[in-house]
Amino acid sequence: MTVPPSELAYVPFVSVENMMRLTHHVGIETFLKELAAFIEADFKRWPDFDKTPRVAAHVPGGVIELMPTADKTLYSFKYVNGHPKNTKTGHQTVTAFGVLSEVLNGYPVLLSEMTVLTALRTAATSALAATYLAPRDAATMAMIGNGAQCEFQAMAFRALCGINTLRLYDIDARATEKASRNLTAQGFEVVACTSAERAVEGADVITTCTADKQYATILTDNMVGAGQHINAIGGDCPGKTELHRDILLRSDIFVEYPEQTRIEGEIQSLDKDHPVTELWQVMRGEAAGRRDQRQVTLFDSVGFAIEDFSALRYVREKVNGTAFSQPLDLLADPDDPRDLFGMLVRSVA
Ligand SMILES: NC(=O)c1ccc[n+]([C@@H]2O[C@H](COP(=O)([O-])OP(=O)(O)OC[C@H]3O[C@@H](n4cnc5c(N)ncnc54)[C@H](O)[C@@H]3O)[C@@H](O)[C@H]2O)c1
Repeated sequence: MTVPPSELAYVPFVSVENMMRLTHHVGIETFLKELAAFIEADFKRWPDFDKTPRVAAHVPGGVIELMPTADKTLYSFKYVNGHPKNTKTGHQTVTAFGVLSEVLNGYPVLLSEMTVLTALRTAATSALAATYLAPRDAATMAMIGNGAQCEFQAMAFRALCGINTLRLYDIDARATEKASRNLTAQGFEVVACTSAERAVEGADVITTCTADKQYATILTDNMVGAGQHINAIGGDCPGKTELHRDILLRSDIFVEYPEQTRIEGEIQSLDKDHPVTELWQVMRGEAAGRRDQRQVTLFDSVGFAIEDFSALRYVREKVNGTAFSQPLDLLADPDDPRDLFGMLVRSVA
């Protein structure tokens, strides 16, 4: 006789549908602000975490990565892929899911979709970094690459930095049309541009968010002026970058976890000891962020496991006691913990 699973068998699961319902319930900009606060709180206790560069399997056409981290009470990992050509076959470039577990007994306490959540956490991290690095009173952002991440970035920069004017460019005009439509509906001032050069004109912040598995040059040195902040999202793999090296040489460069960024970020083209500043130290007041109005600042974002840990921690808190998660029969739970086999045999008796 099949016995129904006991309470220990169940793990709260947040589906894509529930993640979207939760985001609307909270409000997209409130979600981004609250999530950024969780990320900032975790960055400020950086030394508490186990850290390692993510484990990347480079496969034809893309990469599949595992991103683990832990503090003394919780462990998390994210599974994520990056396949720039996927959109041509109707697939997402990036998909993800993740798990949060109790360190005490290793039991998962949350399983969640993380495709939507990764877009939200990437945007929250970028905008949070910009609160320390972008020019004060920044009002206009250029966005080069108008795919899946684009609108999330825009929403986060408005929520955290007050930016409401966007200058969009993508090599595929349909992507710019899509982003213009979505962002105009959200109340942004949107200027669709016909080249990256036009897009960066008069921008206080430049976000590069393109997907291409190659050393691309989305920005050349002449396109970046004094005082601008660059939020470089798309260069996040060996052999996949967006900025001309000369820009890096005259920027103050801020990174998440140098050990990972030196492998995957824009700085992979620089000497191994080229100076970079870790964002967590800026957040703790131990290193300077933006110092003056003429400085070019660069957030060389690759995405780090602690951002996912914070996002899962935030979602766990939000869904607790709500209908935004569903119990998933994920863990075998025999009456006698050592009689796993007996449980299997009895299941058909
Ligand atoms: N740093 C992070 O934490 C993080 C997180 C998620 C995704 N990413 C990266 O961000 C990038 C964008 O992700 P996405 O999900 O939006 O991808 P996407 O495929 O949905 O969109 C990418 C867009 O870039 C455009 N593009 C490609 N080459 C271009 C060029 N030379 N000039 C202008 N536009 C160009 C494409 O036409 C497409 O519209 C990817 O490279 C992804 O790996 C980084």
